[in-house]
Amino acid sequence: MQLLPLTLFLFSSYSLVQAGTAKVGESCNQGENRLQAGTYQFWSECDSQSFCGPQGKCVKKGCRKDDFPFGYGPDDRIPDKCPKGQFCPDEEDKCQELVPVDGDCQLNRDDQCEAPPNFKELADITGRGLNVNGSVCLNSKCMWANKTLGVDCTVENTAYIAYGVDGEFIDIVSRGDCHLGLYCDAATGLCITEKNLGDACTADKECESWNCMSSGVCGISEAIPHHFAIWVYIVVGIGIFGGMFGTLFALFFTHRKQRDEEREKRLQYWREQNAFHQNLLQMRETARASILSLPGNGNSARSTMYSRDGAFSDDAQAPILQNAAPKGSGLRHYLADDGSSEFDDSLMMQSGRQPNDGRF
Ligand SMILES: *[C@@H]1O[C@H](CO)[C@@H](O)[C@H](O)[C@H]1NC(C)=O
Ligand SMILES: *[C@@H]1O[C@H](CO)[C@@H](O)[C@H](O)[C@H]1NC(C)=O
Repeated sequence: MQLLPLTLFLFSSYSLVQAGTAKVGESCNQGENRLQAGTYQFWSECDSQSFCGPQGKCVKKGCRKDDFPFGYGPDDRIPDKCPKGQFCPDEEDKCQELVPVDGDCQLNRDDQCEAPPNFKELADITGRGLNVNGSVCLNSKCMWANKTLGVDCTVENTAYIAYGVDGEFIDIVSRGDCHLGLYCDAATGLCITEKNLGDACTADKECESWNCMSSGVCGISEAIPHHFAIWVYIVVGIGIFGGMFGTLFALFFTHRKQRDEEREKRLQYWREQNAFHQNLLQMRETARASILSLPGNGNSARSTMYSRDGAFSDDAQAPILQNAAPKGSGLRHYLADDGSSEFDDSLMMQSGRQPNDGRF
């Protein structure tokens, strides 16, 4: 559904941009030479590498006016630009001498006109295209942009078709031959001083800043880059570093909580294991006591019991000590103290103190 209008649009803009289709040597009609509606781009029946010659045939172009001309391939030979004191017309057939005041020139081709003697004073260096080297082409005639305040001036209004977000609109460009700092008022036909910021205006050309806002007053130049206040940089900087360190601290505290939970689990395990071992010891004591209290228990039997008891004890303690040794866990202390020690002691030892460091 959307494809058809889009294709039509592409096709129409393509044909707008393109020159004619006739190649070098093919026939053409010079009467078809014209400026395209809306864009005022020069158009002829010949393609972009040739112009329509006087014999009604397309001929290879003899010069170019643009630094980067349209319609040439990478391997195509591009004609040269014209030397100083000459110009290349829109047809781009051959270089011509500059035109004196009141001579004929082409639309917006101020560069076709001879410069005034005081060109240094009159030349527009603002980049707005008010004139070229002090001369201007208005209504197809060359003149100098030297009209002073309150003097009769020439004005030329050209309506271009422009394209914005809301579609086509007409953009009227108004040019005059007033001195720099003045503009040619179309209603009175006189040169008037350009307006300052905040003054009422009806067109961009009236403002010194070249920007008549929709509110009808002169605004600051659109060419001035936007600058942000220092506080914006500070806020953005704080935002960036705050976000970074906020994330770091949030992760740190979340993981600390997890670590604490893990430690609590291990503590629980230790408690259970110690309680279990305590039970074993008590059982052993009980068993030994009951065996010793048996009537008719000889020395030999007792020594056997003791030696076995010692072995058993070693067996029971060795693996646990080995496991606990690297950390210096509280288990060893717990055992050495024969169960009388509080669990808090083992906690303290877990937190770095070596077991049996002489204090216990
Ligand atoms: C301006 O005109 C003068 C006088 O014709 C010429 O010498 C000078 O090169 C021109 N400057 C430019 C930038 O075209
Ligand atoms: C201003 O320019 C015109 C040509 O456009 C010229 O005839 C006239 O002498 C110039 N005036 C001054 C004061 O330079």
